[in-house]
Amino acid sequence: MSALDGEIAVWGRRLAGPARPSARDRATALLSRDPALRAALFRVVDVAPACDGPGELADHLAAYLEEAARPRGGGAPAGSDAGSRLAPVLAAAGARVAGSRAGRVPAGVAARLAVRATARRFIAGATPAAAAPELGRLWSAGIASTVDLLGEATVTAAEGRAYAARCADALDTLAATAARWPPAPLLEADAAGPLPRASLSVKVTALTPLVRPAAPERGRADAADALRDLLRRARDHGAHLHVDMESLDARELVLELALELLSEREFRDGPSAGIVVQAYLRDSEQQVDRVLAWARAADRSASLTVRLVKGAYWDQETIEALHRGWTPPVWSRKGDSDRCFERIVPRLLAAFPAVRTAVATHNLRSVAHAIVAARRAGLAPADLELQVLRGLGDELAAALAAERLRVRAYCPVGDLVAGMAYLVRRLLENTANDSFLATRATGAALDRLLEAP
Ligand code: FAD
Ligand code: 2OP
Repeated sequence: MSALDGEIAVWGRRLAGPARPSARDRATALLSRDPALRAALFRVVDVAPACDGPGELADHLAAYLEEAARPRGGGAPAGSDAGSRLAPVLAAAGARVAGSRAGRVPAGVAARLAVRATARRFIAGATPAAAAPELGRLWSAGIASTVDLLGEATVTAAEGRAYAARCADALDTLAATAARWPPAPLLEADAAGPLPRASLSVKVTALTPLVRPAAPERGRADAADALRDLLRRARDHGAHLHVDMESLDARELVLELALELLSEREFRDGPSAGIVVQAYLRDSEQQVDRVLAWARAADRSASLTVRLVKGAYWDQETIEALHRGWTPPVWSRKGDSDRCFERIVPRLLAAFPAVRTAVATHNLRSVAHAIVAARRAGLAPADLELQVLRGLGDELAAALAAERLRVRAYCPVGDLVAGMAYLVRRLLENTANDSFLATRATGAALDRLLEAP
C-alpha cells in the first residue's frame, strides 16, 4: 500500500461511523439485488422522454413498482425467478407510513406510500420557508446547505418563468433566513475570502423549455436572460448561485452560458458562483482543462466554485447511446469513474484560490482521498468543501463536521411530483451493484471499500 493510500485509509476509518449497517441500509442492500425493482426503474427512465410532465412520471413509477411487487400466478413476484424482495420491503414501508400492520396494505398503496416515504427522506420541505428550520438545524450542527428547487426539463415557457420566479423568491427567503443564523467561522470564510451563507443550486433546463431542441440559440437566449436575473439577485443578497450539470445533451449550453455570463463586467466582483464537472464522462479531464483555463484568465475578483461529482445520469446516458448504436459518453466501468475523479481532484485543488473545490460524493474512499490531497496541496481544512445529498449523506456530513471539516448538504425543496426524476436517479444510483452505499450496506469490509479504485 502506498503512503497516500495508507493516509486515505486512516481518514476513511475516522469518518466511517458505526460499522453495523442500519435497518434502512440493509433494506437498500436487499433491494440492490432485486431485479424487479431495477427493471421498474429502467422502465421509468425509458418512458420519461415521452411523459407529459413529472405527474405522469410519478404515476408510472408507482404503477411499475406495484407491478414489480405483485405476486404472479403461483405467488412468485414479477421480474425475478427467485422471487422479488421488493414486495415485503414495500409492504413494510407502506405499512409504516400508513400506520397499519405489515401485510395489510395492498401492493399499489404500499408502492405509493413507499415512494412518498423515500421522497420525504430526500426533500427538506415543500417551499424554502418550510425548509428553513431544517437549514437552520444543519447550520447549528456545523453543516452549510444549498437549496435545489425541484424541477427540470421544463416543457412550456410559462413553466420556465414560474421556475425562475420560484428561484428569485428562494434567494430572498434564504438570504433573510440565513441572516438570523449564529456565527459559524468555519463555514463562513476560507483563505480566498468570505463564503455566503445562503446558496441556491439551479438547473438550466428548468428555466426554459428550449435547451435541447433544434433551435438551441433561442433556448440559450432565454436561459441567459433568466440566469442573468438570478445572478444579479444573488449578488445583491450576497448569496451563492450554483449551476447544476445535467445530462450530456445540455452540457455545452450550460457550461458555455455559465462561463460567458460570469465573464460579463457586471459580475466581475460577484456573486459567488459555481459550476459542476462530471468525472463519469470520458472527456471530463478536457472539460477541466477548459474550466481551469477560463478561471485563470477571467478578469474576476470572485473565485469560481467547481463541484466535482461522478455524474447522476449514468443509466440514461448509457441507455440512450446504446439505443443509437454509439459508444456511451460515460465510462463503462465504475472504477474508471472513480479513478478519473481522483485524477481531477488535485488539479482543481492546485487552482485555488482562482477555483474553490467542492468534492461531492458519498464514497468514503473518494472523500478521504480529497481530504488527503488537500492536505498534501498545503491547503487549510476550510479551503476544501465536501458536499453530500440530504438523506443519503447525513451521517457522513455529521462525521465531517465533527472533524471540523467544511461540509455542505444539498437540500432539494419542492413537492413529490416535481421531485420524481430526482427520486428515480437516487433509487437507480443506490440500488446499483457497484454503488458505494449499496456495497457498504451489505456489510462489506471497510478496508476493501477504502482500497484504491
Ligand atoms: P459511488 O457509489 O462511488 O459512485 C456512483 C457513481 O459512479 C454513479 O452515480 C455513476 O456516476 C458512476 N457509475 C456507476 N456505475 C458505473 C459504471 N458501470 N461505469 C462507470 N461509472 C459508473 N450529479 C450530476 O450529474 N450533476 C450535479 O449537479 C450533481 N450535484 C450533486 C451535488 C451533491 C452535493 C452530491 C453529493 C452529488 C451530486 N450529483 C450530481 C450526483 C453525483 O453525480 C453522483 O450521482 C452521486 O453522488 C453518487 O456518486 P458517489 O460518488 O456518491 O457514489
Ligand atoms: C441531481 O439532480 C444531484 O443534481 C443532482 O440528480
